[in-house]
Amino acid sequence: MKQFNETLNDLVNKLNSIKEAKGNEMDKDVERWKWGRFVSSNYFLLSLFKDFGIKERHRLIGFDNFKAKQGSDKDNVLKICKNYVNKRDRNLFIYGDVGAGKTHLAVSIAKEVLKSFVSVIFVEASELFLKWRSLYDNPALDEERFVKLLIGVPLLIIDDLGKHKINDFIEEKLWLVINGRYERMRPLVVTSNYSPMELERLFVNNGEAIIDRILSGCEVIKLEGNYRRLKGVK
Ligand SMILES: Nc1ncnc2c1ncn2[C@@H]1O[C@H](COP(=O)(O)OP(=O)(O)OP(=O)(O)O)[C@@H](O)[C@H]1O
Ligand SMILES: [Mg+2]
Repeated sequence: MKQFNETLNDLVNKLNSIKEAKGNEMDKDVERWKWGRFVSSNYFLLSLFKDFGIKERHRLIGFDNFKAKQGSDKDNVLKICKNYVNKRDRNLFIYGDVGAGKTHLAVSIAKEVLKSFVSVIFVEASELFLKWRSLYDNPALDEERFVKLLIGVPLLIIDDLGKHKINDFIEEKLWLVINGRYERMRPLVVTSNYSPMELERLFVNNGEAIIDRILSGCEVIKLEGNYRRLKGVK
């Protein structure tokens, strides 16, 4: 806890120095986006510890407590994810069963990238689409800016793609974001219970194109097993 508080203080100091440098521009942005469950480097502290994309349950998660036996597949996966933090030169698609550790790895990547003050949006897919729909009920919110944020952020992480209803709205919006990032060569991390091919079959119209863009320059990782059950956690 002491160490955690020290790290937190350190981060607060860094954040304050950025805030001073940027004047009140940041406050305005926080205000504008406080309804969103997103992480962005300028306000990453808020995101990690409040009601943004990375949740309370994820607070203690990190590469440090991702267990993998040396030489095992998970050890290899861990190395790939750790290397990814600095390179981010491609997409990453992590799939596997419930409880396999996909979110654990995705959150760990987000936290490590945020430590170097690079913006990350970590968002659970169904929340993203829910939030997107709510844009239309609130005239103060602006879809164009919302899309710009999702396309422009240096790293976008979409957790649990496919664990939600798929319809035209979702396919259209997903295409907008994924193709937008593809064209700008910005990396995307996706986690899913489905393999890319299974996911493609879930979509009705744009599956082939969406998966094509995700898989373009992409490392695909399959995580085996259910960690919770293997550990016998009730
Ligand atoms: N290799 C691991 N080492 C330590 N903890 C792990 C590992 N894999 C998973 N866990 C823990 O097990 C729980 C379930 O993992 P996680 O939420 O990452 O699963 P998931 O693959 O995202 O599952 P779902 O498909 O349900 O979203 C979490 O508490 C996570 O921290
Ligand atoms: Mg998960």
